[in-house]
Amino acid sequence: MLAQAIELYQQRVDKVLKRKLEELDDSAPELKAAMTYGALMGGKRIRPFLVYSLGQMLSVSLERLDNAAAAIECIHAYSLIHDDLPAMDDDELRRGKPTVHIAFNEAQAILAGDALQSLAFELITDEQVNTSPEQQLQMVKVLAKAAGYQGMCGGQAIDLAATDKAISLAQLTQLHNKKTGALISCAVELAIILANASATERVQLVKFSQALGLAFQVQDDILDVTVSTQELGKPQGSDEQANKSTFPKLLGLAAAQDQAAQLVQQALSALEELPYNTQLIADFARYIITRRL
Ligand code: IPE
Ligand code: IPE
Ligand code: MG
Ligand code: MG
Ligand code: MG
Repeated sequence: MLAQAIELYQQRVDKVLKRKLEELDDSAPELKAAMTYGALMGGKRIRPFLVYSLGQMLSVSLERLDNAAAAIECIHAYSLIHDDLPAMDDDELRRGKPTVHIAFNEAQAILAGDALQSLAFELITDEQVNTSPEQQLQMVKVLAKAAGYQGMCGGQAIDLAATDKAISLAQLTQLHNKKTGALISCAVELAIILANASATERVQLVKFSQALGLAFQVQDDILDVTVSTQELGKPQGSDEQANKSTFPKLLGLAAAQDQAAQLVQQALSALEELPYNTQLIADFARYIITRRL
């Protein structure tokens, strides 16, 4: 059931992204190709999954969730393209393929990230049936906040500053919440906005998304030291080699795994408070720490 849903939503968001990218004119073909490669060359689509699955749980039609799902994935794809650049993590493999700056060049990778970020806001503000301008404005706001200084970019800056340094657990938690948690929470917030969810539902869903977002990055750190390059599709040991601050490095592998499991328990407890069938989303939360990709 979970695997099927993941695949269904993966295919659905890919179709939306493909259509949007194909609509672009051919005035800058290399940039268009780099954007398409960076956005469509694979990926689990977990942020779109959250938009779709939570939106559906809250009775929003899939059609109304399409643009939000595609938009959050555009921001994510941009963050990965820039994360891999020589000035940042300097990685040459992503999703089992050469990273964008290797397959194209650095300038095109920078521009592809920039243009994917803009495309996200275009998607959110495209005219949509049954979605009000007020909802669109709210979505622009949460997406901007999650992507920028207060979210992903701020987290990436703290990540770079924490390289080659020992930081506290509280600092590392803040780093992870910003660099990865913010976009994951944003996916949940987009569904909340489109559903006009009640304040009480919102509180539980925000709790769920915050615990899940942190668990997701803790597991990402764990995979860096436990899964082969072949299986992971990105270079094993990249964090260790760059001397990054990570959960396994700070706590040891077993304690990092415990931490991830506890966070997923917190996420599951938040779901229990909701008056819906949360089976699929609960299975998804458990998958976050059992995944090997
Ligand atoms: C990897 O994200 C980078 C992080 C924010 C941890 P994903 O694990 O979601 O990457 P893809 O999209 O599936 O490749
Ligand atoms: C990435 O964190 C977070 C982003 C904002 C892209 P990582 O640097 O750990 O992601 P991977 O391991 O390269 O996918
Ligand atoms: Mg990084
Ligand atoms: Mg990286
Ligand atoms: Mg990582």
